[in-house]
This record gives sequence, structure tokens and C-alpha cells, in this order.
Amino acid sequence: MEAKILETLHLEVDPRNPSPGAIAKAAGLLRSGALVAFPTETVYGLGANARDDGAVRRIFAAKGRPADNPLIVHVADPAEAERVAAGLPEVARLLMARFWPGPLTLVLPRREGISALVSAGLPTVAVRMPDHAAALALMRAAGVPVAAPSANLSGRPSPTSGAHVLADLAGRIEAVLDAGTCGQGIESTVLDLTADTPHLLRPGGVTAEDLARVLGREPACASGSAKSPGTRYRHYAPAIPVYLVEGDEERVREAARDLVRELAARGLSPAVLGTAENAACYGVPAVTYGAWNDAAALGRRLYAALRDLEQSGAGAIVVEGVAETGLGRAVMDRLRRAAGGRVIRV
Ligand code: TXA
Ligand code: MG
Repeated sequence: MEAKILETLHLEVDPRNPSPGAIAKAAGLLRSGALVAFPTETVYGLGANARDDGAVRRIFAAKGRPADNPLIVHVADPAEAERVAAGLPEVARLLMARFWPGPLTLVLPRREGISALVSAGLPTVAVRMPDHAAALALMRAAGVPVAAPSANLSGRPSPTSGAHVLADLAGRIEAVLDAGTCGQGIESTVLDLTADTPHLLRPGGVTAEDLARVLGREPACASGSAKSPGTRYRHYAPAIPVYLVEGDEERVREAARDLVRELAARGLSPAVLGTAENAACYGVPAVTYGAWNDAAALGRRLYAALRDLEQSGAGAIVVEGVAETGLGRAVMDRLRRAAGGRVIRV
């Protein structure tokens, strides 16, 4: 079935001080069952009233998202999380007090009243309070919990600007609240609190080391895909192949240079996403991100760089991986998915 073409309202706001008029407009749309994309500190979300089955169903249609991949419910304060989840364990309260608002999503038992479609049939619900003034103002004005996946077409790189949202979803959603570029650029950490011990389902901005300071030790890593449906699908991928070179700093530079030469010889017009120090030396178009041990810098740029290099006319993207500590775990997780198996370990 052809999706109905909508006029997508573009509401531009100041990220720190969003205008009440724009917020009221977007909140009214959300309450009426419309889809409204909004900024968070991580990436843009595609929001709908989490208590409205019809609105939530439309999120899956607009993104082309598989119905078995559940959504995160966004709340404006910890008290609202109590109305979404059926009972919070003590550890959830400790984690909320330490990391909310912020990039930590908690998987908890689901409470009645939230659309079952949000949880894709699971008895659990994922909840987070984003650290962004426009997102919080929107949710307070709407007065409803907001189900929101990242606001990209399914499988594409997550959007870190209003322009990215419009590139993927213009004509498919009612509005985008555009506050410019997201500060962090990598999606939230997803932590499951419904098992005997906390399990990390997706690494993100709150690192395993951060969590250990509250939990007493690092969370277990969920193995297999049953617990984390989102990890089953290819993700974050631009339309051209991504090659990830990972390992020790020196060797990454040599291997990336050899790979660039080889791809160029095959007529593939490679471009590079690499450290400021190295990327200029490859002799091909490049986006740079700072240093090998600066995962935060790569995280902020990653999705925009993948989209920009795809648009640049390059035929392939060679990425220099970063050190896999702290935030580097989340960044390398996303890069491996974007590469979909084209990973060179050195
Ligand atoms: O930073 C973020 O988390 C962004 C912003 C918009 O908040 N949202 C985001 O949503 O990345 P999405 O839908 O792209 O990713 C949500 C992840 C998926 O891997 C999904 O499978 C998982 O969270 N998830 C959601 N609900 C779950 C549940 N009840 N149990 C296990 N995993 C769940
Ligand atoms: Mg996503």
C-alpha cells in the first residue's frame, strides 16, 4: 500500500530555549495521534503517544521497521517512568538518580496502558529520560509518554540533525522539531533490569565503567539476539559499502592506506573517515574526527559523516576504528553493524 504523502511541518527551535509556540504546536500534534520527530542528546527520535495504538502502529509504517523490534518510551521525569513500568527495582531508582536525564535506557516490566505494540509482544518496556531541553519541554507539554525509535528509515544511519530526519521521512510524518545537531551522536545504552542481574543489551553513552560505579560491577553482556530484538538487523548503513579497519593505532593507519589504494585501483573511488592526523595523507576525500583514542569525537560525527560521504559520490567508505574502551565500545559496535562484515582486524 502506498503511504499517504503528508506535508511535514518543519519547526525550528533554539536547542536551549525552545519557543513555547513551537513546543505547543508539536505537543498538540502528538496528543492528536500524529508523528513528531524531536531532538535528543543522542540522536533524533520519531515520537508518537505511547498510549495510542494507532499512532504507534504508524511509527513502524513510516520507518519501514519490523514489527518485532520494540520501541523506547521517553519520559519527562522519573515519576513518569513509574506510570510506564510495573514496579521499579531499587537498582533502577539508583541508576535513574545517577544518569537521568541522559543516555541510559532501562528495560523494566511493562505496565498496562502502554500500547502493546511498543513492546512488540514482550512483557517488558524500555524507558529513558533524554537530556535535551526541547525533548523535555515537548513531553511536558504533551503530557503523555512518547514512544520513539531513532527517526531514520529502518537500516539507515541514525539522524543527528533535523535535515537528516527530513531526508529520510519528509512526507511520511506530520512534523519535525528541529534544534540543530545532537550533542552526542550515538544512541543510548540499553540495560535490561528484568533478569537476575543487569544485562547490557546495547552499549552507548553511559559506559560499562560508568554503570559499574553504581552496580558494583560491570553488567553482563547479553549473548544472542533473543533479549535485544534490535540487534538482529543490519543497521546504520549508508547505500555504499563501509570497510572498518580496527586494531592497534599504527597498524590501522598502514592497513587503511593499503585498503584505500586497493579500492582505488579497482575503480571504487574510496573516501575515508579517519583521524585528523592520518586522513589527510590518504590522498582521497576524507572526513576527520580527531584522535585514535577520542571515541567521543568520532561518535559525534559518525552518522553525519556516513551520510555526507554517501552523498559525495564516493563508491566506498574506509573507516579507521578507535580504541575500544569507554565510549569506544558503543562507537565500534555501531561501526561493525554499518560495515556488515567488511571488517579488517590488524
Ligand atoms: O538514544 C536512543 O536510544 C534513541 C533516542 C531517540 O532516544 N533511540 C533509539 O531507538 O535508538 P531505537 O528504536 O533505534 O533503538 C532501540 C533499541 C532497539 O535495539 C530495541 O530492540 C531495544 O532498544 N529495545 C526497545 N525496547 C526493548 C525491550 N522491551 N526489550 C529489549 N530491548 C528493547
Ligand atoms: Mg535505531
